Amino acid sequence: MENEVILCIKGRRSIRNYSEKSLSKEIIEAIINAGRYAPSAEDRQPWRFIVITDRDFIKKLSEEVKKQIANILKNKRKWRKKFKELNDNRAILFLSAVAKSKRDSIFFDAPVVIFIVTDKVMFNDESCACCAQNMMLSAWSMGVGSCWIGFAKFLEMSKEIIEEIGIPDGYHISACLTFGYPEKIPKPSLRKPTADVIKWIE
Ligand SMILES: Cc1cc2nc3c(=O)[nH]c(=O)nc-3n(C[C@H](O)[C@H](O)[C@H](O)COP(=O)(O)O)c2cc1C
Repeated sequence: MENEVILCIKGRRSIRNYSEKSLSKEIIEAIINAGRYAPSAEDRQPWRFIVITDRDFIKKLSEEVKKQIANILKNKRKWRKKFKELNDNRAILFLSAVAKSKRDSIFFDAPVVIFIVTDKVMFNDESCACCAQNMMLSAWSMGVGSCWIGFAKFLEMSKEIIEEIGIPDGYHISACLTFGYPEKIPKPSLRKPTADVIKWIE
């Protein structure tokens, strides 16, 4: 079955190549508004949005994430328990390439970075993930690309940066998304065969 919503869901790709063009406030607000209509546990709507369009600040955040990744790689033994990936050589190589990159290997020079922050209450992160997906899909429907940036969680390792971003006390980064007009759109995505991922109990 195909309809506009399903086509948007299937067509969306993570974008890591943005054009220089910035997004208007109107578009950014429309994207956040779609997020606000996501389902949330107990209808708590636990999300708060921090929108960053200051390119110098985005660059600073990118360098901070790289610095944190480099520190973790330097002290692998200490972090192995928390980050199981440090037991995998391929993951280490990937992390090391990200940390050493001279380019913005974290936010991909996106003109907009949005942090969705929330407090530590059961199901708040799940609610924020629904909100994030609403935002990415609504963006795509308006010709705007996005990418969820899990690496941005490493910013939580620096108290000063968290303060500089203005994340309220008791709140944490639930999701971090980049937005911008795509310069390059990856090929349609391949998905695992349904037979491998669905179990029916009839
Ligand atoms: C929780 C989460 C964290 C992610 N973190 C990153 C990230 O830090 N950097 C990145 O480039 N992509 C990140 N992605 C994007 C995934 O790599 C991407 O969704 C996946 O490869 C599938 O591609 P598609 O989104 O184009 O379908 C993340 C996605 C999710 C859902």
